[in-house]
Amino acid sequence: MRSYSLIAPAKINLYLEIIGDRPDGYHELAMIMQTISLADQIDIHAASTDYIRVYCDHPQVPTDKTNLVYRAAALMAEQFPDAYSQFGGVDITVKKRIPVAAGLAGGSTNAAAVLVGINLLWNLGLTQPELEELGATLGSDVPFCIGGGTAIATGRGEKLAPLPGLENINLVLGKYRSLEVSTPWAYKTYRQEFGSSYIRDSDGFASRAHAVHSGEIVKAISHQDTVAIASKLHNDLEKVVLPAYPQVVELRELFAQQPGVLASMMSGSGPSVFAIVESPEQAEVVKQQIRTAIPNPDLELFVTKTIAHGINLAA
Ligand code: C5P
Repeated sequence: MRSYSLIAPAKINLYLEIIGDRPDGYHELAMIMQTISLADQIDIHAASTDYIRVYCDHPQVPTDKTNLVYRAAALMAEQFPDAYSQFGGVDITVKKRIPVAAGLAGGSTNAAAVLVGINLLWNLGLTQPELEELGATLGSDVPFCIGGGTAIATGRGEKLAPLPGLENINLVLGKYRSLEVSTPWAYKTYRQEFGSSYIRDSDGFASRAHAVHSGEIVKAISHQDTVAIASKLHNDLEKVVLPAYPQVVELRELFAQQPGVLASMMSGSGPSVFAIVESPEQAEVVKQQIRTAIPNPDLELFVTKTIAHGINLAA
C-alpha cells in the first residue's frame, strides 16, 4: 500500500497522582489513562520526494520540525535509514478535531499514529512494545496512545499496565479555544508549591509520605462500575491549574450541577474539563445546557464516550 489513513483518539485522565519529582526533571506519576471517541484523522502517503511534509487544517498547529508528527516521522527515518531510502519521503495530513493544548494528548496521539502508519507503509513489522519504546522518546503519553483503552501508567507515564477496557461511558467535554495551559508550567508550579513534601531517597528520586491511593478506582474499573469510577476521579494538577484559570473552575462546577452528571474533572494539565454522564441522551442535554449558560463561542463542547482501543486504521 502507498497510503494509510489512521484514526488517532484523544485521551482523558481518570486519575493523575504526582508521586514525586525525579532527577531527570520529570515527575514520577500514577495515572489512569482512557481513550475516548473524539479523534483526529492522520493520512500518511508515500511521497514522490524524499522529504517529510506535514499538512494540518488547524491554524494553531505548526507544520514545521517542531510538530510532534514531523518528529515521529523523522525518528522513523533515523531509526530505519534503509527503509527510508527504499520507500522515500512521506506526506502526512492531520485532520484536527481534538482541541490543541488541552490536556487530551492531541499531539501525542498524532505522533502515535505516525509511528503505526510508517510501520505499515515501510513494512517494518515492529511489535506494539517496540513502537511504544520508540514513542517514549517523543513524549510521555505517546506509548499509551498507541494501544489506548484503559491503562495504569507509571514512571513518566510511559510504563503501562492494561486494565479491563471501559467502553461507552458517556462524556461531555469542554475547552476554551483561547485558553492554553503549558504542561511544563503546570508541573513546575506543582513542584514549587508541593515539592517540599517529598522524601528524597539516595538515588535522587522522591516520593510523598502517603501511599498511592489509586487502588479504589482500579477496583471500580475492574467492576465496570461507572458510578464508583466517577466518585474516585482525581487529578493533582488541578491544585495548580484551577487557581490560575477561573474559567476552568466555572466550567467544572457548571458541569457538576447538571442533572445526569456523575462527576466532572480537568483532564491532564488542562484546561479541558470532562463530565461523566449517565446516558448519551443526557450528555446531549448537558451540552445544550452548558451552551445556554455560556454562549461564548470560544468554548468548544463535545459529546463523546470512552473506547477500548488506541490507533486504528480508518474504515
Ligand atoms: O513527555 P512530554 O514531552 O509530553 O512532557 C511535557 C512536559 O511535561 C515535560 O517537559 C515536563 O515538564 C512535564 N512532565 C513532567 N513529568 C512527567 C511528564 C511530563 O514533569 N511525568
